[in-house]
Amino acid sequence: MAEVVILPDADAVGALAADLLASVVRERPDAVLGLATGSTPLTTYRALAALGLDLSAVRGFALDEYVGLPTGHPQSYRAVIDREAVQPLGLTPSLVAVPGGDPIETAGEDYERRLVDAGGVDVQILGIGRTGHIGFNEPGSSFASTTRVKTLTEATRRDNARFFDGPDEVPRHCITQGLGTILRARHLVLLAFGAAKAEAVAAAVEGPVTASCPGSAIQLHPRVSVLLDEPAASALRFADYYRQAWADKPAWQGL
Ligand code: F6R
Repeated sequence: MAEVVILPDADAVGALAADLLASVVRERPDAVLGLATGSTPLTTYRALAALGLDLSAVRGFALDEYVGLPTGHPQSYRAVIDREAVQPLGLTPSLVAVPGGDPIETAGEDYERRLVDAGGVDVQILGIGRTGHIGFNEPGSSFASTTRVKTLTEATRRDNARFFDGPDEVPRHCITQGLGTILRARHLVLLAFGAAKAEAVAAAVEGPVTASCPGSAIQLHPRVSVLLDEPAASALRFADYYRQAWADKPAWQGL
């Protein structure tokens, strides 16, 4: 099962996730990192940038992208990844891939090929949506799915309207790594903050494995770290056990 770590706040989680990423890159300077966008990974990117490592050989693959935004739109995930990850971390722009492009019909297959050619993702950072989505795999997504165009739920469009001038500006479609793609990464690190994520986190970590909660796919993966602040952990049935296991964890084990 997943290892669940409950920490006081998003900064503490970001510091722990950054330490993990740093150890992977120290061992392998051209490691392949799976990059998430949205609010959740920001403390991790900030903490990793503060470590001052040379990340110029690191390769990156974004989870997803909106479909239908003009090139260069500030809320396109290409622009967000450039602003929030590539620049502060000192990544090499040509080594960071974002799905999508023209023609969109074959962009998913192209992305899958690029992931395979890169040797797969070493560590995949994940956020989770209130619908239980990881990447933009909304409820009903196949656990075997690969990168493809999907329709966003209205709930997700509403949640993401905060980044746009209004709810109608949020695209209806996206291209996202599939659940099958995500499950091929060698280590999944799912981060979540705030009480609004508590139900989705509990469903993903402790609920039945079901396409109705795409995040529950993580239960099928042999190496998962779920790093939470207290409010995001508030609906977990076994929270006390996770705290105890973390406190008693043998020093040699690592994440
Ligand atoms: C982003 C992504 C999404 C977000 C999720 C949470 O690349 O794939 O799954 O991680 O929607 O978004 P935030 O972090 O903004 O709460």
